[in-house]
Formats: sequence, C-alpha cells, structure tokens
Amino acid sequence: MADSLTIIDNRTGKKYDLPIMYGTYNNYGAAIKAADLRQIKVADDDFGMLSYDPGFTNTASCKSSVCFIDGERGILHYRGYHIEKLAERSNFLETAYMILHGELPTKTQLEDWSWNITHHTMIHEQIKKFMDGFHYDAHPMGILISTVAALSTFYPEAKKVRDLETRKLEIYRLVAKMPTIAAFAYRHSMGLPYVYPDNELSYAGNFLNMLFKMAELKYKPNEVLEKALDVLFILHADHEQNCSANVMRGVGSSLPDPYVSIASAAAALYGPLHGGANEQVLRMLKEIGSKDKVPEYIKRAKSGEIRLMGFGHRVYKNYDPRARILREMAPKVFEVTGKNPLLDIALELGRIALEDDYFVSRKLYPNVDFYSGIIYQAIGFPVDMFPVLFAIPRTVGWLAQWQEMLDDADQKIARPRQVYTGYDIRDYIPIEKRK
Ligand code: CMC
Repeated sequence: MADSLTIIDNRTGKKYDLPIMYGTYNNYGAAIKAADLRQIKVADDDFGMLSYDPGFTNTASCKSSVCFIDGERGILHYRGYHIEKLAERSNFLETAYMILHGELPTKTQLEDWSWNITHHTMIHEQIKKFMDGFHYDAHPMGILISTVAALSTFYPEAKKVRDLETRKLEIYRLVAKMPTIAAFAYRHSMGLPYVYPDNELSYAGNFLNMLFKMAELKYKPNEVLEKALDVLFILHADHEQNCSANVMRGVGSSLPDPYVSIASAAAALYGPLHGGANEQVLRMLKEIGSKDKVPEYIKRAKSGEIRLMGFGHRVYKNYDPRARILREMAPKVFEVTGKNPLLDIALELGRIALEDDYFVSRKLYPNVDFYSGIIYQAIGFPVDMFPVLFAIPRTVGWLAQWQEMLDDADQKIARPRQVYTGYDIRDYIPIEKRK
C-alpha cells in the first residue's frame, strides 16, 4: 500500500499525489498536510484549495503524545497509561509529573516535584487583596480566571517562555497556586476568611483544608474524600485537543506568558458546552424529582423534547471510562457524606437508558459529568464551584499541551484561513448618496 493519496481535480482533470503522514493503518489516524492542498488550482493566480472545517471536527492541529481517546472502544490513556490504572495505582501529583514530563517519576524525581509544588502554594498578599475586591456574590470561576491572569503582572520574567528554567518555575507555580486561588475564590464567595496552605498535607488534602477548615487548629481531611478528590483530579487532568486545550495552544502560540494563556483556557472551560455539563445533570435530576418519574422523563428524551444531560459524547461511542470509575467510587463517598438523594434517580436513569433501544442504537452512554456533579455535591461543593474543580487538574493538561506546542518545530502562530463570502472590491459611496 503506497503512503499517498491521489486527488483528481474534476475542474481541470489534473491529478495530484499527496503524501500521507503517519500513514500506517491504526486507530491513531492518518493525515495529509493541509498545505499540500494549496497546489490544487484552476489557474496560476488562484489562491489554491483550502479545507473547510468549522469546529475543527476533522482537523489535526498538532502532533501530540500527551493523551489519547479511542471513543469507539471507550479507552482513555495519558502517555500510554490507562486512566483506570492511574486512578487505582497512582496519585494526582505523580500523574501530573508523568503528563508533563512524559515518564513516570523515579522516587527522587517525585520527591523533588512534590516538594516544589508544595512550596509554591502560597500566593502574594497583594493577590489576596486583589481577590478581596470582587463582589461578595462573584462567580468563583470569574475570580479564578481574573486572578490567574493577574499573576502575570507579579511574574514578569514568565514571558521568557523559551527559557527552560523559567518555564519549569512557572509550571511549579501554576500547578501549586491553582488550588489556593480556587479555595480563596470559594471562601470569598462564602464570606469566610482565607485559609493558608498546609505543607504537611497532600495536594487534594491541602485543597480540602483551604476550603473547609474552620476553627480547628489543624485540619484533618477525611481519607475517603481526599482519595475521591485525588481520583477526580486524575480523571480530569487532560482530554487531548478539546476546546480549552486548543485555546491554550492558540493563545500560547503568540508567546505570551503562561498565566494569561491559562486564564484564556480556563475561560473556554467556563462555557456550558465544555466544563458546565455536570451542573446541568444536577438540575435535571432535581427536575425529575423521584425514581418513579424516570420512565416518563426518558419518554420525553426519546421524543426529542429534551436531552438526557450527562449522556452521549462527541468522541465516546461507548461507556466513558471516567464515568465507570466514578460510578464505582460514588458509594464509597456516600458512606462518608451520607447518600446524595439524587443518586437513586441517577442510577435508575442509567439502568433504564442502557436497556433502551433508543440509547443503545445511538451509542448514548453516561459520560463523566453524569456522576461527577453528584459526588462534588455530596462532598459539599456548591454548583458554582464545579468548573473551578475542573480547572485545577486540567491546568496540568493545558501546561503539557503548551510545552509540547512550544517545543514542536512545526508549530507557528495559530492563524486559520477563511473562505471569504463577502463583497468583492466596491466603490465608497458618500453618505448623502446612500440609500
Ligand atoms: N439525550 C437524548 N438523545 C440524545 C442525547 C442525549 N443526551 N445525545 C444525543 N442524542 C441523540 C440525538 O438526538 C441524535 O438523535 P437522532 O439521530 O435521532 O437525531 C443522536 O443522539 C446523535 O446526537 P448528536 O447531537 O448528533 O451527537 P453529538 O456527537 O453532536 O453530541 C453531545 C454530543 C455530548 C453534545 C450530546 O450527546 C449531548 O447533548 N449530550 C448531553 C450533554 C452532555 O452530557 N454533555 C457533556 C459531554 S462530556 C464533557 C467532556 O468530555 O468534556
């Protein structure tokens, strides 16, 4: 089999052989270079053929070795490690190191990495004052996005994105400070005093401390909830070229410092079509109200009147592997928190839908958002905090995608083309002559 693609332009009858990159047949996909299409012209002064792809549904914007999703088979792995294995055997900081560095750390590397993350968790007192300026009911995601952007003004050297030592330091700072800013945003919105980081606790444990510590001298996180949050962080660490990762790469490609790029990526995550679906799941379960109302609700979904939130996925046409992990984890969390009454409705909905031909034939399975919101709510997070909880671990994925983009000699400033559909050149009409 030749590694090329032959295109015949029926307008001219000309034939073109385009080389196929990475052309071996596998489920990682093959690609031609979009720029090779430009030689397809009807005349010498013709601009050349473009590929039209709104939403980039079939465009590879980069080569990447960070994360892979096989949607048909329901597989997700980070750098070759199955998400199930990582959730069971690893912890968030180790997984974060692996995502950012490509390999699992040795014992010394992990100690060094964990030490550095732990010792960059504090934020400047002026940043705290900056956060104080937000209105009492400010959305925590708005606070997070603005505050991360504001960090850019505190670390002007971060602009040196090609300098590897500087880049390393900014990565420590971002991974370490995101939970602090997130927790401060939560405490601000609750009208509670900020709690400083506790270096003796784990990444997830310290986050719980900064969120929920009250008058006690030392906060002791519940081990089950600490583990659950750690697993949730692992599951959300990366998801290849999604909307926010694409923003991170796109903004980062003009070489600003990583703080403003992370703020932009977090802004993309904020939208209900990306990081906001688990909130919709909670609203839906509340609306259903009780288990016996589930069949009626499913009928409405089948008639097209509504959609079952937390069901279906653009990429997964099988059970989302992250949803399966959370479904198994949920009962352990509820043993500690008491059962979220919405769980019974969710399980019943899942049970009926998975037996129903409408959902089976369309390959509509529960996605990660179907269970994450119920667990977050049981742990005590208000719905507004859900996208913030997503942004903390995803910072690692964004940074890995950003580094990869900076180190890839093929990458240039992101600058898509358009198919122009407007006027040709026309005369300027003086205002008195316009109709
Ligand atoms: N409930 C009922 N029917 C559905 C649903 C649903 N949740 N999702 C898709 N369908 C039907 C849809 O009506 C269509 O039926 P038909 O072929 O008869 O017209 C068919 O399934 C295909 O739907 P589609 O809209 O073409 O599928 P898509 O790949 O464009 O949409 C989706 C994917 C996630 C937007 C969609 O499944 C959906 O709206 N789900 C609910 C929202 C949700 O849970 N979003 C979170 C996604 S996970 C987040 C992440 O990974 O970051």
